[in-house]
Amino acid sequence: MKLVIALLVLCTCLPARAASLGQLTDQLTNVTARDGVVLDGEWQIVVDPYDTGSIDYLSRPRDNGFWSSAGPVTSTDPEEWNFTDAEVLRVPGDWNSQRDDLFFYEGTLWYRRAFEAAPQPGRRYFLCFGGANKRAKVWVNGSEVGEHEVGYTPFHFEVTALLRSGDNDVTVRVNNERRSDGVPALNTDWWNYGGLTREVRLVETPATFVRDLEVSFDGTQVMARVRLDGPEAADASVAISIEELALSQEARTNEQGQSTFVLDAGDRIERWSPENPRLYDVRVKTREDTLADRVGFRTVATRGSEILLNGSPLFLRGICIHEEALSREGRAHGESDARELLALAKELGCNYVRLAHYPHDESMLRMADELGLLVWAEVPVYWTLEYDNPSTLAEAKTHLTEMIERDRNRASVIIWSIGNETGDDPVRTSFRVALGEHVKALDSTRLLSAAMWARAEMEDDRPVGFVVEDPFGEVADVLAINSYIGWYWADVEDLRTCPVTRAWDKPLILSEFGAGMKRGFRGASKDRWTEDFGLRIYRETLAWASRIEGLAGISPWILKDFRSPRRQLTGVQDWYNLKGLVDHRGERKEVFGLLQEHYRGLAEEWSVRE
Ligand code: GCU
Repeated sequence: MKLVIALLVLCTCLPARAASLGQLTDQLTNVTARDGVVLDGEWQIVVDPYDTGSIDYLSRPRDNGFWSSAGPVTSTDPEEWNFTDAEVLRVPGDWNSQRDDLFFYEGTLWYRRAFEAAPQPGRRYFLCFGGANKRAKVWVNGSEVGEHEVGYTPFHFEVTALLRSGDNDVTVRVNNERRSDGVPALNTDWWNYGGLTREVRLVETPATFVRDLEVSFDGTQVMARVRLDGPEAADASVAISIEELALSQEARTNEQGQSTFVLDAGDRIERWSPENPRLYDVRVKTREDTLADRVGFRTVATRGSEILLNGSPLFLRGICIHEEALSREGRAHGESDARELLALAKELGCNYVRLAHYPHDESMLRMADELGLLVWAEVPVYWTLEYDNPSTLAEAKTHLTEMIERDRNRASVIIWSIGNETGDDPVRTSFRVALGEHVKALDSTRLLSAAMWARAEMEDDRPVGFVVEDPFGEVADVLAINSYIGWYWADVEDLRTCPVTRAWDKPLILSEFGAGMKRGFRGASKDRWTEDFGLRIYRETLAWASRIEGLAGISPWILKDFRSPRRQLTGVQDWYNLKGLVDHRGERKEVFGLLQEHYRGLAEEWSVRE
């Protein structure tokens, strides 16, 4: 690949979308199914800790910075850079795990990539990013294109007018500095991996194409909304089909290029479930374009303290997962990483995963659809944000909008979570309630939750019970609490006399519990950091969970030891949070087998009930 395209994006946030049910999106549905070229491999880089590529010595914006195709031209242009013989990094991939001198790096890093283009008349071209952490600006052949502020969701820019036949150059500025008004803000218990962490594609479409396809299922009928984009979008003929169900329908789009379909499949549809992850190809055809998506059909609801999948109550045998590859350092991305992580969850005996604490790569959700794992999906509204700051709320809503627009065709996703351990004072609660309303406006077909804390009832400095009364529980469909009794405070044996009550008759999930365990470090069951300590925490907490009336699921913290800037303890943590069932090399700890045995028993118990 030798052509180069340099894209410039002004510092303008994407307009906040008017998100409402039926308001179809600016997302491109199922980008990976479209014609195009993946811009992976080695990209040249320039590390730029003081943003020399964007501002001059007086911090004034440059007219011709590191995005320029021509390099430094006038005497005022910076000369401290060139991409010709620059260092390289692999894309997709975070920069922290690729170079020791970038392990802790938080700042700006410039990427450039060269590739051939042969744009055809009547075709359109989009640069599509699976995600970049955190703020990305993009240049094509020295012209500006767009900017994206949110770190874990896809974005794209049309570049049709900027592509040249033959040589083009693309430059991306990524900055991952944490900000107090950001989402997440300054303090997280996960690594701030920066860079082009997910796939970059140049996608080609017809002049008028199927931009958005939303499919849902109410138990008997399949509903589909289609939106075309292009000069012939209005009053266009659109045909939808699900060949395996002998279903098809034609319609004409309205003035906005949209059409809706209701397909009555009766009882011919094989419902999607973890035991039978049945997927169907839903295909949309227009005069110029065809777009397909592989979709599972299932229903999810609650009934009192039960979660119902396809009308039957189930127990969520889960595990929490951070987006780190199983068998190497760094951010997970792509199908093979997703398959490794979720195959291990299946081997553990899970029917459910909590993808913490931010939207994972789209390949994880498609793999969960394929392997049969229910999913709790979450945005990084985490611990302390500026909950009274309107721009922080707007950014949190953008995270939700872009996550839901990307994943709302995924049968595996049953819970949208608006955050984790945010606290419950009135300001924080109104922030979360606003996010809950936003979720429901975008997608009323799934369950709303957040990971909260229960209030401990104390006697003689010991917990004697827990009350789930976080005010967000009023609007949530599913209650969820994190509990680290025996690790962060109290003795885990206290749980033997700790009933759990809740202020609402709603399903309750134990969304986190666990302990730090250094693999291979053995001792007495009260020796911290030993695997024996962890086994004691799991035995007592699992026994406690089995006594909680109406508990609908558990997701212990966490599948794999993961990098955290808060976990320094030299010789023990060494910048890893050690609560994983496997260590950072994917090697299993004793507790993996204990939980696997527990899930085997639960699966048998619940299979008898069905
Ligand atoms: C918290 C938090 C996690 C964190 C974990 C821990 O509950 O939700 O993000 O990593 O506990 O302390 O290990």
